[in-house]
Amino acid sequence: MKIGIVGVGMVGSSAAYAMALQGIAQELVLVDYNKELAAAQAEDISHAVPFVSTTVVRAGDYADLAGAGVVIIAAGVSQKPGESRLDLLSRNAEVFRIVVSRILDVAPDVILLIASNPVDIMTDIATRISGLPPSRVIGSGTILDTARFRSLLARHLAISPQSVHGYVLGEHGDSEVLAWSCACVGSVPLMSFAKQIGKPLTDAVRAEIDDGVRRAAARIIGGKGSTYYGIGAGLARIAKAIARDQRDILSVSSVTEDIAGVSKVAASVPRVIGAGGIMMDLIPELNVEESASLHHSAAMLKALAASVPL
Ligand code: 2OP
Repeated sequence: MKIGIVGVGMVGSSAAYAMALQGIAQELVLVDYNKELAAAQAEDISHAVPFVSTTVVRAGDYADLAGAGVVIIAAGVSQKPGESRLDLLSRNAEVFRIVVSRILDVAPDVILLIASNPVDIMTDIATRISGLPPSRVIGSGTILDTARFRSLLARHLAISPQSVHGYVLGEHGDSEVLAWSCACVGSVPLMSFAKQIGKPLTDAVRAEIDDGVRRAAARIIGGKGSTYYGIGAGLARIAKAIARDQRDILSVSSVTEDIAGVSKVAASVPRVIGAGGIMMDLIPELNVEESASLHHSAAMLKALAASVPL
């Protein structure tokens, strides 16, 4: 499969690097309005390839995205001093209007993978602009928050994160919901497992894990300015599920008919991802508190998306 990446700053290039290392695509095409940056990133990443895979990594223009099965959009502007989040959103909507239509001109059957923040709103905007079915416009959503949740649980329990099944739902952001009540380890409910092995998830432990997940981005941004390796690997994970038709269950964002009583909202729930993009949504069974939090998160996203003029 040919995979395109539009916007190859730290996030787009980390995704390209992660995909190149895993040989997920036959060809990676890096597009950026800064052509020198795209050329330099492609050349640098291509030098990692001989060690591990055979992927062709090159810089290109939109025309070179013809035939791409997946295009990752990691483009967008960042907030300027004095600018509100909404100002940023409408400027990013403008960037998306151009980027999405240029991609669709050459690759009308593409699956769009949205990485730009605020990712849920940008996923909603990309869906509206493109006219593609929501199953083909996938936001990275809470894939990274879920990875953070699983890894902190795994560390507490001393179990591989791959054997801890738990998800973060709703917004990729402050209102996200850690779905404790339906998490499990292997086939055992998380809370009973933790108690059985003498590592109970007390209120204090849960608060620490919640903070570890919810405030991870802020902490990393405080230390190094931005986050990119985690999301780069997450984007590669989604692209792999599509390229290899793996039908993996991943928590990603997409415009969904109903999330906790909120209709047509882009937010994350676990979904089956395969060759056609999103093949199925899995709406988890939550306790009353988690359901209310998910409703709040989804309602906030819906209102924010509706406020962005297209
Ligand atoms: C992250 O959660 C900032 O969305 C980015 O790492």
